[in-house]
Amino acid sequence: MRLAVLASGRGSNLQAIMQSISRGRLAARVALVLSNVPDAPALGLAEAAGVPVWAKDHRKFSSRARFDAGMLEAMAAARVDAVALAGYMRLLSPAFLNAYPGRVLNVHPSLLPAFTGADGAGDTLAYGAKFAGCSVHIVEEAVDAGPVIIQAAVAVRDNETKESLMPRIHALEHRIYPQALHWLATGKLRLRGRVVHLPPAEYGEMSPHSAPSMPLPDGCLVNPPLDPGF
Ligand code: GRF
Repeated sequence: MRLAVLASGRGSNLQAIMQSISRGRLAARVALVLSNVPDAPALGLAEAAGVPVWAKDHRKFSSRARFDAGMLEAMAAARVDAVALAGYMRLLSPAFLNAYPGRVLNVHPSLLPAFTGADGAGDTLAYGAKFAGCSVHIVEEAVDAGPVIIQAAVAVRDNETKESLMPRIHALEHRIYPQALHWLATGKLRLRGRVVHLPPAEYGEMSPHSAPSMPLPDGCLVNPPLDPGF
């Protein structure tokens, strides 16, 4: 799978994706990293890994459609066949999503459908919910609304702050996102209505192989379970 990663910020999920590929777990190659923020730290990570980048300030384009058309052109030239949003802080146009139907994924720092929007984890804490977490989902036009592939739940501690919570959420994002992309790359994702299914062998069979090789931190749950190595 030739993957484009779209990032506007620090790029820790991009890094996790590239690591999972170099460790031979995620069956993909990052063909291109794109950004609307020309000095985003994520671009430095891509360049250090020898991955081509396309970075342009979206404010210099007359419309979202034109900016997205520029990305689509670069992605076609790089023969991209799937897209991972990794802290990409802009909406995508219908034309962009239609070019990769069911093949644009996003990671969001809340247990969807709760707490959509720019501050999923902060909103979870402010609400007083007792579980926070993260979700990987297929991207649709409505914000943070597409079918969920995998989620990780994190128990909220007493006196939790965003500073104390975020590292636990990020650590889980870095495990569930490469896993979801691997399922996409290996053709495992099936949609029935808006429900994502995996083949039975992939989904929670209690065999020695269903245990993740690295244990989850205390108070965390991942479902569907991670494949070995994720
Ligand atoms: C992550 O928390 C992700 O859930 C959200 O944006 C953040 C990106 O972080 N969509 P990074 O740039 O990958 O470190």
